[in-house]
Amino acid sequence: MSKPIYVLSGPNLNLLGAREPEIYGHQTLEDIRRLCEARASASGREIVFRQSNHEGELIDWIQEARLQACAVVINPAGYGHTSVAILDALKMVGVPVIECHLSNPAAREAFRRQTYVSLAATGVVSGFGAASYELAVEAAAGLARQA
Ligand code: DQA
Repeated sequence: MSKPIYVLSGPNLNLLGAREPEIYGHQTLEDIRRLCEARASASGREIVFRQSNHEGELIDWIQEARLQACAVVINPAGYGHTSVAILDALKMVGVPVIECHLSNPAAREAFRRQTYVSLAATGVVSGFGAASYELAVEAAAGLARQA
């Protein structure tokens, strides 16, 4: 059995659909889960799709991914800009990491222009709304195939 792609989402992304829709769109996280599942399955992969508002829980899942996943897609949300601990966990994960964002943080407030996660990411997809997740899953599947 081939290993799944872990698709992890950080704080406040459980509120997608209601949360600042002019920035993050109208699709819910459940809508995005379905899109990711379809995109992964087109590449013959399954996904493990999880969201947490808690830094430690995200770190536990990243450590789990080290053994269980073929690649990690992560939207760290606000933690991307603050969490050295998530960066440290990702540096140990040993599989391709794709960072994704619905919005384009580089075109927003100055404090969003830097993410710690980027230091451990093979690549970053941002600014395409829900499609950022789909593109990230496709990239992850491609990198996992090459590995
Ligand atoms: C986000 C961008 C972050 O700056 C923000 O804190 C989020 C969502 C995005 O998907 O565009 O919560 O990661």
